[in-house]
Parts: sequence; structure tokens; C-alpha cells
Amino acid sequence: MLKAKIKADRDYKIGEIDKRIYGSFIEHLGRAVYGGIYDPGHPLADERGFRRDVMELVKEMDVPIVRYPGGNFVSGYNWEDGVGPVEERPRRLELAWRAVESNEVGLNEFAYWAKQANTDVMMAVNLGTRGVDAARSLVEYCNQKSGSYYSDLRRKHGAEEPHKIKTWCLGNEMDGPWQIGHKTAEEYGRIACEAAKVMRAVDPDIELVACGSSTTEMPTFGSWELEVLDQCYEQVDYISLHRYYKNHEKDTANFLAQTIDMDHFISGVTAMCDAIGAKKKTKKKINLSFDEWNVWYHTDGEQVEPWETAPKQLEDIYTVEDALVVGSMLITLLKHADRVKIACLAQLINVIGAIMTETGGLSWRQTIFYPFMHASKYGRGNALITKVDSETYDSREFTDVPYLDAIVTENGKEVTVFALNRGEEEMDLECTIAGVTDVIEHLVLWDEDRYAVNSAAEPNRVVPSGDGNAQMDQGVCKAVLKPLSWNVIRLKTEN
Ligand code: AHR
Repeated sequence: MLKAKIKADRDYKIGEIDKRIYGSFIEHLGRAVYGGIYDPGHPLADERGFRRDVMELVKEMDVPIVRYPGGNFVSGYNWEDGVGPVEERPRRLELAWRAVESNEVGLNEFAYWAKQANTDVMMAVNLGTRGVDAARSLVEYCNQKSGSYYSDLRRKHGAEEPHKIKTWCLGNEMDGPWQIGHKTAEEYGRIACEAAKVMRAVDPDIELVACGSSTTEMPTFGSWELEVLDQCYEQVDYISLHRYYKNHEKDTANFLAQTIDMDHFISGVTAMCDAIGAKKKTKKKINLSFDEWNVWYHTDGEQVEPWETAPKQLEDIYTVEDALVVGSMLITLLKHADRVKIACLAQLINVIGAIMTETGGLSWRQTIFYPFMHASKYGRGNALITKVDSETYDSREFTDVPYLDAIVTENGKEVTVFALNRGEEEMDLECTIAGVTDVIEHLVLWDEDRYAVNSAAEPNRVVPSGDGNAQMDQGVCKAVLKPLSWNVIRLKTEN
């Protein structure tokens, strides 16, 4: 039996959790939009063609912000193609994923969907094939009330009120050679700075995210951030981070340890932001937007027929093991709540998605849906400094990996312990947190078969149970955690 201890105190905080760390992402890619959120022929579609069943699942996840329309897609996208009468919209060759984009759904439709889903839009501008001019006209179209060319065009298109989009991405993964319009750090830093200036001139209330590195493995990681921030530090508010984890080797111990890399990534980028801030002698702080993160490898190497509309693409089917990594990624984001203010699970539907659908048919929750929903529901308020005392192991790529990965949060009424047992044995856990009185519930996601998945045939094969055994014993919360399990222990506090 493994042994671990947690100590936390409600007075000692890492920082306030920005609810936007429970954001997600919908790209015009595969069946995310067409056949995902939008399926006009579906019996459950609303009068504008959006699926009500999918909407309910999105609401269950309580996603406060959704990044749109890409991803790699945005770097070749003309936003004007997606507005105005649908029958006049062009069918375009979409070069990032080599599909045909029908443009049936564009920004006004997506803004409508987001409103129904109780979420905000995080809009990306194209800094690949386009630039400063298209960026400023898009902000005007979205956010200006009326009385100008693009705001009146929006009203003519039936969207009387401005969309008031606050958070904007200055392009996507511009460091990647695969990106349409790929740039050097200097080229990107300049265009990001100039686009930011005109976008803010149209609407001074917007917040801007500059592109950081696409992964820690990029050869330019580090030098990219330093150069980009040097160019546009005063013009932007956040820098982005993207990271996906894989397990082709079927090496569970190493797979579960990969969040150590995520932790270093966040600390490294935070240090780079502060180094440039110090160099510029400014009080302004740049925060982090981890706007693409997930497990993604099951569909690596798939061949997709080019020039189809909404092909089946990147439809990873997630296992219990993947859900444990997603849980650990959420814990890692919470450990950095003081600097990570936005994060987007990539993605929301069908494409490496938490929710799956059959076009015209069923929808269901993937395994990774659950840790995300738990954190989004119970991980609001403040992240607490969490002292973890755990035995460790060495894996193929990492040393001194704690068997227990954990974070404690509090919201004034409740304390939540998020705890991942990375070990293949049960774990005896003791949590000492001053002021907690009772266990409200102990949720567990676990399965005898770590490769178990949900599917249309068996949508509830993997579901969390509320039958964890946490209990208070003389002011200490004690539990035995199952091997390879995700645990959410909700505790009542004395005031
Ligand atoms: O989320 C899928 C893709 O991953 C995005 O389009 C891109 O930004 C990243 O490489």
C-alpha cells in the first residue's frame, strides 16, 4: 500500500482561480462544427440548426469561454466568407486540414451558439495569410455598436447588437513550419504588435493573447518567447502555450508523469515573461493563456481523403488512462492559478473532443469529460498552497515522480481535494486542512481496465462513482485511493 499526505490551509493561497482556465476550443476542423455542434437535419436541432443535446452536454461541463475558429484553420481563413446570406457564401479549399469549408457556420452563428451555451467567445484573427487590416475590420464588425461600415454590415446581417468579444488571439502557432504564413519570431512579434495597436484602437477594452511556442519540443522554444515579448510586451496581455501528450509506448507510468513537463513549461514561460518585464523596467505583468492542451495521439498517422466537407478527422477515443492524464493536467493548471488565467481544453466536440456525436445520431461523454467537469464545477475560488508528501518513482523520461499528484481549492464554503493516484497499488491518503468539518462526497474515476472507453454502443461504460471512502477522523480526512484513479474529495468547512 502506498502512503501519502496532503497539508493545506485556507489562509495560504496560490491565487484566485480565473474561471477561464475551464475554457475549451472549437475549430472548423473535421466534425467539430458540422455534425458536432451544428447538424440542421438532426431531430434535436434548434431552429438555427444547433444540436440541443450537444448544448446540454456543453452546459454540463460549464465552459466559460470557447476559442474559435482555429487553430491552424484560422491562418488561411477570411472571416468575411462566414457572414451575410448563407446561400452566397463561398465554398473554399481549406488548406490547413485540406478539406472543403462550406462557410454555412460563421461568426454570427457561432456567437449565437455561444450565447445559448452560456459561454464567451475567444476569437482568433488570421495573421497567416492576412494581417493588420483584416484584424481591425473584424474587431469593428464584432464589437462596434453601429455607425461605421463594418458595424452596420453586421446589423444588416441580422446581428443588431455587438458581440462584445473581449479576448482575442493574435494568430495561431505562428512558430510552427506547418502553419500557413509561418513567421520568424521577429516577423511575428512585429505583426502582433501592429495588429494589437489597431485592434485596441477600435476597442480599447479587448484583451490580447500573443502566440508562444506550439510545444516545449520546438527548437525555437525560449528564444521565440523572448523575441516576441520583446517586440510586443506593452501591446499584449497574455502569451499562449500549447501542449498535447502521447502514449504510443503504452507506458502508463511515464504517460502519467508527463505533467512534470507541463509544470516546467508553465514555470519557464512565466520566468521569460518576467525577465522581459524586468528588462523593460515595467510594472506590467504578462499572464499565461494555455489555450490548447489535451491528450492527442490515438489518431496519429491517420489518412484523410482530401477535399471532403466535415470529414471524420482526429476523432481520438479516450481511455480511462487518458482521463487520468487530463486530470493531472487540470491539477497542473491549478497549481499555477496565479499566472495561468486562460486555458482551453482542445477540443470540445468530436475533434480530440470531450464530447462525441454521430452525425444525425447519438451524443455521449468521453472519459476525459469527467475530470474536466469535476474541476470546472468544484475547482472554482482559490487554489491553495498544497504540500504533498508522497513516495516517488522514476519513469522512462522522468525522475522523482510523486505517486500522488494533488491540489486543494476553496470557495469560502467548501474545500475540494483533487487527487490522482499514479501508482498501480492502493494509496493510503491523509489530508490535514484546518477548518474542514465533514466529507460531502468522494467521487472516483477508475476502472479495472485502464484502456476502457465510452462509445455509441456503450456510452456509459466509464462513469465516475460517488462511492469513494473518504471520511473525517479527528479533524483529518482519510481515504484509501484506488490504483490509477482520479479522486475529487469535497469537504464542508466550519464557516
Ligand atoms: O487542436 C488541433 C490543432 O493542434 C490546432 O489546429 C493547432 O493549433 C494545433 O497544432
